[in-house]
This record gives sequence, structure tokens and C-alpha cells, in this order.
Amino acid sequence: MPGQILVVGSSNTDMVVQTTKLPAPGETVLGGTFFMNPGGKGANQAVAAARLTGNVTFVAKVGTDIFGEQAVAGFRQEGINTTYIQSDPDHPSGVALINVDAAGENCITVAPGANAQLRPAETNPALASAETDALVLVQLEIPLDTVVHIIGEAATRGLRVILNPAPAQPLPDELFPNLFLITPNETEAELLTGIRVDDLSGAGQAAQKLHAMGVSNVIITLGSKGAYLSTGTQSQLIATPPVKAVDTTAAGDCFNGALAVALAEGQPLPDAIAFACKAASISVTRMGAQASMPRRNEVNE
Ligand code: ATP
Ligand code: RIB
Repeated sequence: MPGQILVVGSSNTDMVVQTTKLPAPGETVLGGTFFMNPGGKGANQAVAAARLTGNVTFVAKVGTDIFGEQAVAGFRQEGINTTYIQSDPDHPSGVALINVDAAGENCITVAPGANAQLRPAETNPALASAETDALVLVQLEIPLDTVVHIIGEAATRGLRVILNPAPAQPLPDELFPNLFLITPNETEAELLTGIRVDDLSGAGQAAQKLHAMGVSNVIITLGSKGAYLSTGTQSQLIATPPVKAVDTTAAGDCFNGALAVALAEGQPLPDAIAFACKAASISVTRMGAQASMPRRNEVNE
């Protein structure tokens, strides 16, 4: 049995419309067919990991509405441990409104709902139950004080923490030394370090700054260019398979879920990144968030 992956984060229902071009402020554009599928960065990463045969426990908060019920039913079908998912009778489940253009690029507005109500102490039972070698995977679509609490508690228990710092926001200094690994994309890396990341030199400088802030390992995802790894002593670019992207929504989530699976299996970081790139490159060839997450046999092929 591979090591446990404890994902703590958001669950949304994604409402998606494909358009030729994304609307400008004040503009209305006619789009294609409306499409609904489960999303949310935490849930996407949990589902990605579970489909790739990870041993996943998901910690989240949903509303007591049809969206929350469907989301939790979906997690159970994926074989995810849902013991620590809470229901909030006072707030609706999270929803995301998504436009995807002809090049597969998107713009997303999230109504967090119950996700914004996940309190620090409410994550303690899951953390207390975590296996001693569990990997903790967290993002920034739940309250920041909860993220800081989880990371501090997990580090105190000696658990390895992966932070996917998305959506981008400034973070407190004390958080960084508790991270085994941080996985920003180019924009997030720039926001955290103040260093522009549009080439390998920028990625290298941003990674060094993150090490100086206290992070052990840094992976900066670079879209179709792959992912840049820095361990502090070594760095390398790992390429992603070239594909025709249809919808890049949740590419980063697929990458992080797959990465966690490979690391939980004991794979070294470069191999784990190659596996994550393969999985994420498949996900961008399909529409949707959880709808696009590949299964293990697809990645192995
Ligand atoms: P998103 O916000 O769209 O979910 P992200 O900005 O967090 O994604 P990216 O760096 O764009 O993250 O992508 C994550 C990973 O997904 C990349 O490292 C790569 O492996 C894969 N990927 C993304 N876009 C493409 C693409 N066009 N072709 C192939 N692989 C891709
Ligand atoms: O990372 C993609 C996700 O961001 C979408 O599924 C949407 O719900 C938002 O959380």
C-alpha cells in the first residue's frame, strides 16, 4: 500500500462555457454548450491522485446542498476517504464560473461558499489520524489561517508538506521553512519572490529566493514547457509531452495530484515530476477539471 496522501482544500462545482475568445470587461460574447463538472483545487488534486492509484484522504467543507452531496458522492466513487469532509448548513457549496477560449486558456471566478468556512481547528482530527509517513498537500482556496495552521501542525508531526500556492496570494514568512516542497506556476512564483519568471534564468533565481525563504524543494510549473526543479543543490528542467491543449483548467491540479502519488510511492523528485508532466499533459487534451483527470493506465501507456 503506497503512503497516505492527505489533501486539504476546496471543492467547487465548475460551470464552464467554451468561447472563441474570452470576454473583455463590459463585453458579452456568445459561447458554446454549457458544461458542468466537479472542480475546486483541493478536490481536483484529490481526484487526480486517487485516479492514479494514490491512497487519498480529503479534508474539505461543503454546503448541505445538491452540489455538495454530488461532490462527496463523486469522491467516494473515486475511492477517496471522505471521513473528514464536513457539511456546513449555513453556507452554499463552492462554485466556479469558467470561460475557456479556442486556445484552451481560461478565466475563472470562484464563489468560495463553504470552502471559506473551513476553520483551523477543524482540520485537527484529520491531521491527528494521519499516518506517520503521510504527505500533506494543500492549496490556497481555503482560509489562509487554516493553511498556516495545517502546515505548522503537519511539520510539527514530522509530515512532509507540499504547498501548491494557488490562487496566487502573499504568504506569511513563517510558513516557508515548514515546507518540504512548493509548486508555484510562473505567476505565483513571481508574486511570492518579486522575480519575473519568463525563462529558465528567472525560474532559477525565483527558486533560489524560495530556498532562502526556507523551502527545501521548489518546482515551478511552466505550462507547455514542463516544470523546473530546484533542490537547493541541483536544478533541472523536465519537459512535458507535447500535446494539443483543449482546456488547461486544472492542469496544475493534475500535476500536483500526480506528483504526490509518485512521491508517496517513494519515487525520486525528477521521476515524480516526469510522471506528473505526463498526467497533466493528458488532462489538458480534455475539457473540464475532474472530468479531465487521467487514470494510471493512460499515464503508463
Ligand atoms: P492551471 O492554472 O491551468 O491549472 P497552472 O498555471 O497551475 O495550470 P501550468 O504550469 O500551466 O500550471 O501547468 C501545469 C503542468 O501541466 C505543466 O507543468 C505541464 O506538465 C502541464 N501542461 C500545462 N499546459 C500544457 C500544454 N499546453 N501542453 C502540455 N502540457 C501542459
Ligand atoms: O484549478 C482549477 C480550479 O480552480 C477549478 O476547478 C475551479 O473550481 C477553481 O477552483
